[in-house]
Amino acid sequence: MTWPPVPEISWDGRPFLYFCGTGYLGLQTHGEVIEAGRRAMACGLHTATSRSGWGSTSDHEGIEKRLMDFTGYRECLYLPTGFLSVKTALDLLRPDVTDLCGVIMTANLHPAGREAVRSTGLPVREIDPDFSQLEGKLFRDRDDRPVIVVADGVFPISGAGPMWDRLEPILESGRPVILIVDDAHGFGVLGTHGLGSLNHCGWIPGGPFEPAQCRFSNLRVFHCGTLSKAIGGYGGFVLTNDQVNRRDSCVYTGTTPSPAPVAAATRMALKIFTASPEIHQSLQNNISYFKKRMTECGIATGALPVPIWSRSFDDTAKALQFWRAMAGKGILCQYFPSYSDASRPSIRMALFATHKRSHIDRLVAAIQCASAHTA
Ligand SMILES: Cc1ncc(COP(=O)(O)O)c(C=O)c1O
Repeated sequence: MTWPPVPEISWDGRPFLYFCGTGYLGLQTHGEVIEAGRRAMACGLHTATSRSGWGSTSDHEGIEKRLMDFTGYRECLYLPTGFLSVKTALDLLRPDVTDLCGVIMTANLHPAGREAVRSTGLPVREIDPDFSQLEGKLFRDRDDRPVIVVADGVFPISGAGPMWDRLEPILESGRPVILIVDDAHGFGVLGTHGLGSLNHCGWIPGGPFEPAQCRFSNLRVFHCGTLSKAIGGYGGFVLTNDQVNRRDSCVYTGTTPSPAPVAAATRMALKIFTASPEIHQSLQNNISYFKKRMTECGIATGALPVPIWSRSFDDTAKALQFWRAMAGKGILCQYFPSYSDASRPSIRMALFATHKRSHIDRLVAAIQCASAHTA
C-alpha cells in the first residue's frame, strides 16, 4: 500500500475507490493528527523504558484520561497494541483467578482474545457466537464460582455481533460474571457517539462524558479495544470500573509503550473524535444510506449499524472472481482466504465517514454487478 487510507486512491496508475481496512471515521489523515505526530518527533521516538519506569509521557497519560472522561469508566490502561488488550484484562484479573470457574469464549473469537484466553490456564468452554448454548451448568466443576466471558463486540469480517440478550438470564439469576469484550470494531462506531457495543445493547446505557454504569450489578466489565481503527490513532486500551493494579499487567511493566509521536498523534485523534460528534454521525449516515441502497437492490445487510459488509464463497476462485469484478468497476475491497470469524474465502468492504454518497452509489452498483457475475 503506497497511499493513505482515504476514499479516492491511485493504484498502478489507475484511480480506485478504497473500501478496505478499518479507518472508519477517516481520522488517520486528519491534518492536526499528522501535525501532532510531527511535533512530538522532535524528542525522538521514545524514552526507551516501560510505562512502569519513565516510559509514560504526558500523551500516554492524556490518552488514558480522555478515554476515561469520554466513556465514564474509572480506570484505563493505554497499550502498545489492541492485540494485547484482552491479555491485559486477563492479567489484571490474575489475583482473582483461583476464585474463578473458567472462561467461556465464542468459537469465532479473534486470535488476540483466543491466544490470551489460552495463556490463562483456566478451563475454557467454546460456545457458538450466538450464545445459544448457555443453558444448564456452564462448567462441570466449581460451577458456583464467577465465570469470565470473552467475546468480540463486532466480528471483524461479517460485521455481526453476539446475541447479548441470551446472556441476560444468567445475569438476572445473580451469578457473578466478568465480561471481557474486545470492541476493536465497535468502539467509535456503535452506541451513542461511538461509545461501543455495550452501550448499543443497553448494558452500559449512559451517554458520553457520563459515568459508565452497568445495568447488572453482578457484571464486572473490561471494555477492551483499539485506537488504531475507527479513532485513527494507534494502540489499544482496557477500560473498567474495577480497581486494578497496573503492575499486574506484564505489558505495562515489561514493554516500551507506543512511540512518543504515535502517542501524540493518537491523543489528538481521540480529542478530535470525542469533541466532534458530527464525525461519528457522518459515519452512521453513510451506513444508513448504504443499507438503504442495498435493500433497494435486494441485497441483505446485517442487523448492526456497522460500516462492514462481506460476502463469503464456497471456493477461492469464486471469491477472486468477485474481487476482480469489483476492481474492474474501480472498487478496491479486501480478500480474506480465512480469518477470525470467516472460515470460508470472503470479500470484505468497509465504509468511512469520509466516503461521499456518490462513492457509495458506485460501491452498491459494483456489488450488484459482481454478484450477478458470480451467481
Ligand atoms: C477483533 C480484533 N481484536 C484485536 C485486534 C488487534 O488490534 P490492533 O491492530 O490495534 O493490535 C484486531 C485487529 O485486527 C481485531 O480485529
